[in-house]
Amino acid sequence: MARILDGKILSEKIKNNLQIEIKELKKKNIFPGLAVVLVGDDPASKIYVGSKEKACRELGIHSKVFRLGKDAAEKEILELLESLNADKEIHGILVQLPLPKHIDEKKIIEAIDPKKDVDCFHPENVGRLMVGNGQIFPCTPAGVMEILKEYNIEIAGKDAVVVGKSNIVGKPMAAMLLNAGATVTVCHSKTTNLKEKILGAEILVSAAGKPGLITVDMVKPGVVVIDVGINRNAEGRLTGDVDFEKVSRVAGAITPVPGGVGPMTIAMLMKNTVVAATRIYE
Ligand code: GUN
Repeated sequence: MARILDGKILSEKIKNNLQIEIKELKKKNIFPGLAVVLVGDDPASKIYVGSKEKACRELGIHSKVFRLGKDAAEKEILELLESLNADKEIHGILVQLPLPKHIDEKKIIEAIDPKKDVDCFHPENVGRLMVGNGQIFPCTPAGVMEILKEYNIEIAGKDAVVVGKSNIVGKPMAAMLLNAGATVTVCHSKTTNLKEKILGAEILVSAAGKPGLITVDMVKPGVVVIDVGINRNAEGRLTGDVDFEKVSRVAGAITPVPGGVGPMTIAMLMKNTVVAATRIYE
């Protein structure tokens, strides 16, 4: 049976440390503030934004959520971002993705001040990440790296496979594993011979968003499996991309869903907000 990589416990530990750090910052008159922009009524996005608000409350981070209707004009969002960029009480800005189809996502992301870009989605921050000079890291891949560190999982020299090539998870995850010395293969929906490639993995990160994609015949015994998928099954229960029950019998270590990467993403967002607040006053 695989070792369970518990992201819930680790995220609580990180948040407890942040809470102490935030108290210290407040003594120096630094009150970390996060603005979250939610456009439209995507049910999953509403839940994520609610969890981010709750985490801010628990940690003592000042948070403001801006809820705009699904027909909001691009100009309205750009104007809001301009005012948040100039707002001294706001250190982190996050625009929840996906945005409605009529909005140009790239344009919106580029309108965020890179110093306040706590998602690390702005091309300037993505570029720094690529060249190994990142000061802030995208929340989900950063959460995965923290899990690997906490459980002393060696990365350098390992064969890693990332399934998914999104800008939010797959691409930055591949860059971070590469910067840490892994040999990285990135698979996606057009990849041929997926099974053969995944079988080569010593570290497997699945961020495909497809329940049941990773089956036991696709993994090498002893593999470290990080399941980034957050899907709902037919009964409405949360499940990852991995057939946990069977894969956990052959893997060396595995993250559960829920309780794996999910809570780490929020903890990393809180950390990035604190980092942004401290850096702005440097
Ligand atoms: N949508 C899904 N994940 C994320 C995330 O980490 N940040 C933002 N802004 N939107 C998302």
